[in-house]
Amino acid sequence: MTPTFRIAPSILSADFSRLGEEVRAIEAAGADLVHFDVMDNHYVPNLTIGPLVCEAIRPHVKIAIDVHLMVEPVDALIPLFAKAGANLITFHPEASRHVDRTLQLIRDHGCKAGIALNPATPLAWMDHVMDRLDIVLLMSVNPGFGGQKFIPATLGKLREARRRIDAHTAAGGQPIWLEVDGGVKTDNIGEIVAAGADTCVAGSAVFGAPDADGGYRSVMNELRRAARTA
Ligand code: DX5
Ligand code: ZN
Repeated sequence: MTPTFRIAPSILSADFSRLGEEVRAIEAAGADLVHFDVMDNHYVPNLTIGPLVCEAIRPHVKIAIDVHLMVEPVDALIPLFAKAGANLITFHPEASRHVDRTLQLIRDHGCKAGIALNPATPLAWMDHVMDRLDIVLLMSVNPGFGGQKFIPATLGKLREARRRIDAHTAAGGQPIWLEVDGGVKTDNIGEIVAAGADTCVAGSAVFGAPDADGGYRSVMNELRRAARTA
């Protein structure tokens, strides 16, 4: 398996009325990142949370906040999220007029930068911006909703993205995380990690399986165990 492995619970499936408690619980259960899904009812047919909510949860956890922007246009939100405490920001390249500039803008604001690719969006978007990427996020569902089924064609795409990233780092390039988002569960995380993902988003799998005390230790341990069998 890929030596570094991270789990990023998506708070899209958390109880929004108790968000501070929910992010503290995932951190206590060993989450590596808080995955923060931003939807604008324009790029995707759903509406979620913005910089004010990011700022509100920031003091509750030490782990990084991984902001996934499903918005169009993109650029104006970047300084706002950076100011609100985001650590990583990914966006969908089709939603930005100038992808290279948007990636630079994210880094200029002190965050790690990445592109998020929909199931039908080709890896070719990586081609001319490899040096500007800290993360590539592959969507394994169509963006907009939690609780959807993993699209199996993502596995082949992950293997190819892993090959490109490894070639880049072997040639002296910076490390690039390979994140997968959508439909990740205990029963498929093994094959997802085997295909090359080093960072797995899991929303409904985590928040849908609380421990008796409301924590998430058992499901997080189970996800890690299943990932290790890769
Ligand atoms: C979908 C979001 C995902 C989603 C994952 O548009 O980007 O992060 O919340 O949720 P699950 O794990 O339930 O598919
Ligand atoms: Zn997401």
